[in-house]
Amino acid sequence: ATVLHIAGARPNFPKAAPVIRALDGHDVAQRLVHTGQHYDERMSDVFFRQLGLPEPDENLAVGSGSHGRQTADMMVRLETSFQEADPDLVVVYGDVNSTLAATLVATKLAIPVAHVEAGLRSFNRAMPEEINRLVTDRLSELLFATSPDALVHLGNEGIAAEKVHFVGNPMIDTLLANLPRFDAAAIRGQLGLPERYVVATLHRPANVDDPGDAAELAKAVHGVADQIEVVLPLHPRGRQRLAAAGLYPYPGIRVVEPLGYLEFLSLVRGARAVVTDSGGVQEETTVLGVPCLTLRAETERPVTITHGTNRLVTRAGLVDEVRALLATDRPAADWPVPPLWDGRAGERIAKVIAEFLR
Ligand code: UD1
Ligand code: UDP
Repeated sequence: ATVLHIAGARPNFPKAAPVIRALDGHDVAQRLVHTGQHYDERMSDVFFRQLGLPEPDENLAVGSGSHGRQTADMMVRLETSFQEADPDLVVVYGDVNSTLAATLVATKLAIPVAHVEAGLRSFNRAMPEEINRLVTDRLSELLFATSPDALVHLGNEGIAAEKVHFVGNPMIDTLLANLPRFDAAAIRGQLGLPERYVVATLHRPANVDDPGDAAELAKAVHGVADQIEVVLPLHPRGRQRLAAAGLYPYPGIRVVEPLGYLEFLSLVRGARAVVTDSGGVQEETTVLGVPCLTLRAETERPVTITHGTNRLVTRAGLVDEVRALLATDRPAADWPVPPLWDGRAGERIAKVIAEFLR
């Protein structure tokens, strides 16, 4: 049997790596198709090198575009790709446009879809990812959930319980496997950072696309930089907009290119706190025990609040939240992590897939 994995954007890579590795131990052939949604070396290639992902069998090179164009371009190319490879199962990851496009195409070709990271819900349809999650879960034959809340959402949406498997979090498999390679002192030295610093990542359309929102965000981050050095590895989306909004140059703010996986998590591990609007970073900080302030109105990852270090903050509230946080000791990293975030999700997923294909 042949399993075809679809990856295309930065957050897909650390989720796919442990699943592909674990499936190597089973009697299945594997293919990896890169859609080309992300294409910069720092958004894609570096993850393949650092995470030991196999070279993609095919790169569809779709590139950037509006949601409609990007998704449609992917669908046209994926259709040919699936017809040629004729896989028995397509595995999709997370909630990006590559996930949605592959799910639609595979389903229409009567190829079953497995969704890794099923059932997360922000209940905010203004988020493009929420649409991608809803459609992908509705069409998937195998749904792999990372947290108990996901099981509740899928049940409420009428998805048959036999299709759903609570397996833990493969992104955390990757984190735990690479933990010994995270070297906070080295990256601090490389970037010339002081001992105490905050890491910030910002890329969500809701924060950076509108000039008014971006200006408010810039002001909030300035308020943080007035208290502690802030280092921002900036995603290409909104880099210019955040510059135009006056985020930088500003004293105490260091803007750098997106970092490789090992460099980024080394930086996070040594940080006093993280300010983010990323999905995956909320989960990684939970396991690393680094306080995380999430600049969003809601999160599809509530276990990072109930079992982790995450707090939702507003742009207006950020400065005071950071002040309060800096006044307390950094918490000890010994709280319970979410259930099954134990480094073995990839193995559990591989076992279910192998049984499905038997
Ligand atoms: C996508 C995902 C988002 C995820 C993010 C992770 C969707 C709908 N969104 O958002 O869920 O959090 O990836 O990083 O799938 N660009 C580059 N180089 C690249 C890739 C993108 O410069 O390698 C720039 C382009 O100007 C592009 C913009 O970033 O227009 C947005 O890229 P796109 O893939 O459409 O969405 P992201 O914002 O990256
Ligand atoms: N990441 C990285 N370098 C960076 C920023 C993020 O390697 O400069 C990693 C991060 O640790 C996580 C993944 O990229 O593993 C998350 O991707 P992103 O925030 O782009 O997407 P989201 O999770 O919001 O969909």
